[in-house]
Amino acid sequence: MASRSCFSALLLLLVAFEFIFVIGVTLPRCRPIVANDNDQIQFALNLEFLEADFFLFGALGKGLDDFAPSLALGGPPPAGGRMANLDPTTRRIIEEFGYQEIGHIRAITQSVGGIRRPQLNLSAEAFAAIMNQAMNTTLSPPFNPYANSINYLLASYVIPYVGLVGYVGTIPNLDRKTSLSLVASLLGVEAGQDAVIRGLLYERADETVSPYGLTVTNFTNRISEFRNRLGMCGVKDEGLMVPVQLGAENRTTSNILSADANSLSYSRTPAEILRIVYGTGSERSPGGFFPKGGSGRIAMRLLQ
Ligand SMILES: *[C@@H]1O[C@H](CO)[C@@H](O)[C@H](O)[C@H]1NC(C)=O
Ligand SMILES: *[C@@H]1O[C@H](CO)[C@@H](O)[C@H](O)[C@H]1NC(C)=O
Ligand SMILES: *[C@@H]1O[C@H](CO)[C@@H](O)[C@H](O)[C@H]1NC(C)=O
Ligand SMILES: *[C@@H]1O[C@H](CO)[C@@H](O)[C@H](O)[C@H]1NC(C)=O
Repeated sequence: MASRSCFSALLLLLVAFEFIFVIGVTLPRCRPIVANDNDQIQFALNLEFLEADFFLFGALGKGLDDFAPSLALGGPPPAGGRMANLDPTTRRIIEEFGYQEIGHIRAITQSVGGIRRPQLNLSAEAFAAIMNQAMNTTLSPPFNPYANSINYLLASYVIPYVGLVGYVGTIPNLDRKTSLSLVASLLGVEAGQDAVIRGLLYERADETVSPYGLTVTNFTNRISEFRNRLGMCGVKDEGLMVPVQLGAENRTTSNILSADANSLSYSRTPAEILRIVYGTGSERSPGGFFPKGGSGRIAMRLLQ
């Protein structure tokens, strides 16, 4: 009897500890934010702007200001974007992705109103800094995303996936059916882009990224680990090759799509996303691709 109640007390204590852990430790950093549908959907525009200008410049050497200037709502021109040295197939794919992002920006703007495009930093140096952090070394020569198709695809690996998990993260917090329908439709194309980029990289998984002596797999695994460190909310990002325990149904080490134990997409909150795209691990410290921080109510609120 005594040992049983002792056991129950212990169990209760354990449950209490778990509760404190979840409430006190996990939640403040990782809990969803409270915001209305429009603000949540507008937050996604930050990533859509980043993708639009990175893809359009990479494929064509010009950006949103040349194709649909009104959608930037007077935001400053992006710094450092340029045409990448791509093979013809990759160029066609990236060009298409760039146009798709223009469509996404238009759809969001028409549905919930636009926000001013934030200052973007698409310079080779901004990518080089992020790659150095991800690889935990100083790559020499500095990583240049615009040098060739492999480098460009590795740089692209950094972006749509973050947009994708961000859209998944908004779904439980949306009130209106029209918002859900818009986000699901954006998510469909975003997931497709991520899958194509990862598929193209997977075909080259064992190729060495010249002149670093590291493979494509090495890069993707490190970039994913780095994003998990910056996001600070556990493993929500996996490279192209994983230990079998992280593969689909624990049966494979290939990981062309990054997903959880039931092969469901991971989700991230706006704060997690900002910690990653700022490259600083803090939603209050802009940097990386957004040297002055993101636009819209949510990003501005989190900055304080
Ligand atoms: C872009 O990033 C690079 C590398 O961090 C930095 O040197 C440069 O000043 C940044 N440009 C802008 C406009 O923030
Ligand atoms: C980065 O490298 C340093 C020194 O080489 C090492 O101490 C540290 O553990 C590494 N960090 C990660 C996250 O791998
Ligand atoms: C690169 O990958 C190979 C095999 O996949 C592994 O043995 C090696 O440790 C990795 N190197 C780095 C720096 O991650
Ligand atoms: C895969 O392994 C993990 C532990 O590593 C386990 O939690 C999970 O249930 C396993 N999944 C399947 C489908 O066997």
